[in-house]
Amino acid sequence: MRLKNKTTIISGGAQGLGAAMARRFAEEGAIVFIGDLKAEAGNATVKEIKNKGGKAFFLPLDVTSDDSWKSAMEAIEKETGRLDVLINNAGINIREPIEVMKAENFDAMLAVNVKGPFLGTKHAIPLLRRGGGGSIINISSICGLIGHQYTPEAYTVTKGALTLLTKSIAVRYAKDNIRCNSIHPSTVDTPLMQELFKNPDRKKERLGEVPLGRLATETDVANTALFLASGEASFLNGVAIPVDGGTTAD
Ligand SMILES: NC(=O)c1ccc[n+]([C@@H]2O[C@H](COP(=O)([O-])OP(=O)(O)OC[C@H]3O[C@@H](n4cnc5c(N)ncnc54)[C@H](O)[C@@H]3O)[C@@H](O)[C@H]2O)c1
Repeated sequence: MRLKNKTTIISGGAQGLGAAMARRFAEEGAIVFIGDLKAEAGNATVKEIKNKGGKAFFLPLDVTSDDSWKSAMEAIEKETGRLDVLINNAGINIREPIEVMKAENFDAMLAVNVKGPFLGTKHAIPLLRRGGGGSIINISSICGLIGHQYTPEAYTVTKGALTLLTKSIAVRYAKDNIRCNSIHPSTVDTPLMQELFKNPDRKKERLGEVPLGRLATETDVANTALFLASGEASFLNGVAIPVDGGTTAD
């Protein structure tokens, strides 16, 4: 097992990519805490993991709230006494072009996609440090690397910020043996994309931009996160890994 008893918190782990990472980490022996607004979906994922013999817990978490992160970390410390891995995964996308986007929608995206990982990292660092170090994994996007033709500006702004939050943390906290890296998936078929894919043209556009000719899968992303969390990636710090079938190499 590659993550035996490694305590991991995954924000936004109730569904989609977060749930896929939770399942994969539990298979490899991690003790997984799913932090999410969606208690019902989160508890269902926890149940699924436990039914397969894994260890998992649900924590109510609003990533935009300092107090919510504080309570989550206290609950984790009480349960396992340590933290080894933080995955900042929760994210939203309000698909409005810059010219029509309401300022409050921009604020909402900044709050979840940037303030969320910022606060999660803030509250994780003391616990990670006390345990001798650990791994922070930020789920950015190809939009954190390029100006993506099909994605409006606000999402790109938030994911770009996450790319550099990652590098800043990587440089500053390496002395505490805390590694921080980001993952940059191209389009993955998750609940986040379902609304968009009601129009088949949108799916065709997305498929057309991937040299490998398919969408990313949740497993592609989960396996990359697993690698970054494990000792196999012990010298990877501050890197931005595209999981995009070659999209950003074009
Ligand atoms: N799906 C894709 O194609 C794709 C591609 C690249 C990057 N990403 C990124 O991957 C991450 C996960 O995406 P997904 O497709 O699984 O999305 P999703 O919508 O399926 O899941 C997101 C989860 O985050 C939770 N969440 C939202 N706001 C929250 C908050 N304030 N506090 C706590 N939890 C909150 C939701 O309840 C949900 O469970 C996001 O950061 C997204 O931007 C997704």
